[in-house]
Amino acid sequence: MPGITAPANYSDEPPRHPALKINSKEPFNAEPHRSALVSSYITPVDFFYKRNHGPIPIVDDLSRYSVSITGLFNKHIQLSMADIRSLPKYDVTATLQCAGNRRTVMSKVRKVRGVGWDISALGNATWGGAKLSDVLELVGIPKLSSVTSLGGKHVEFVSVDRCKEEKGGPYKSSIPLKQATDPDADVLLAYEMNGETLNRDHGYPLRVVVPGVIGARSVKWLDSINIIKEECQGFFMQKDYKMFPPSVDWDNINWSTRRPQMDFPVQSAICTLEDVDVIKEGKARIAGYAVSGGGRGIERVDISVDGGKTWVEAHRYQKSNAPYISDGPQSDKWAWVLFEATLDIPIDAEIVAKAVDSAANVQPESVEDVWNLRGILNTSWHRIKLQNSSCVARSKM
Ligand code: MTE
Repeated sequence: MPGITAPANYSDEPPRHPALKINSKEPFNAEPHRSALVSSYITPVDFFYKRNHGPIPIVDDLSRYSVSITGLFNKHIQLSMADIRSLPKYDVTATLQCAGNRRTVMSKVRKVRGVGWDISALGNATWGGAKLSDVLELVGIPKLSSVTSLGGKHVEFVSVDRCKEEKGGPYKSSIPLKQATDPDADVLLAYEMNGETLNRDHGYPLRVVVPGVIGARSVKWLDSINIIKEECQGFFMQKDYKMFPPSVDWDNINWSTRRPQMDFPVQSAICTLEDVDVIKEGKARIAGYAVSGGGRGIERVDISVDGGKTWVEAHRYQKSNAPYISDGPQSDKWAWVLFEATLDIPIDAEIVAKAVDSAANVQPESVEDVWNLRGILNTSWHRIKLQNSSCVARSKM
């Protein structure tokens, strides 16, 4: 592909913030410390998790870079960055979450395969770019189309990076045409993140952002868009990022029995405390994030200090000075809410958070119930067991 190259090794990776916790060096997968997530509603680019499957592509000549749009419609074209930038620009605040977020806890139940993520494989950014629905209209596919005149029903995004899962081929994924052509679905071809040009780790020069859907569908370093009949047959759609029941293991798995995961379920986690924390009896600030997929807002976040026997409702908010109002004009429907509660902490407290979304979906109580062999979508109640300072002092005597 002219203008951009995919390195075969990791000798030319971009600089990264030293505070990131590295879960895998090559490919580079890293997340911030959980406390960084609640320090601002918009996650700074440096502290935004990085999820890669191969070496980071290099743009050598932006003027030669273009995205081809081909497949089951009549007017195939190539769009340069200037063409994409000439379309109306939208800024959409959306939380991107990796399906593997909170996998490490799931792997304590039974072994799972995948990068070991703590609770920070997500971030909330303002993405700037053209709407995919406008781009597809340019090639004669009207807004709100479910099928093209030549039978195309899915929109495939193909990247330039080389992934071992694709046997050295590029990362790819797809979404339904209906979602891609719906202006209210806010699917973007983004060239900005938090008001700055996208950086290499996050998809420079152009990436897809599919709000409310697991991060795997937001393809970075976009090379081509193909209108196809069936969903994308790539590894990450067909042999990964599918949710299986706890009864399925590697010896009896049949990938074709499940659909690729799209929307993510309701999720929340506490970011101000960790299992290792030693707390004196008294008050503690319990703060974290809550988010749901598909544009469903967060209705409520419940907090317990006694392992789920009793609950209080946390205060929740988005931008500073703008209280969260589900579906209200000020609410960013694709974005997380932050929550906080300052509560009395008893001896040997188990602090728990669970969120409820606008469709009244609630996080499941136990991780055992949602265990799956790939360790995806761990949305079980987030629990933190605190140690009591007087007990710790006694055990050291
Ligand atoms: N796109 C390409 N081309 N290559 C990738 O490895 N990873 C996907 C998605 N898009 C990936 C990709 C996954 S699994 C996630 S969770 C998000 O990008 C992560 O985006 P981020 O690194 O900007 O946080």
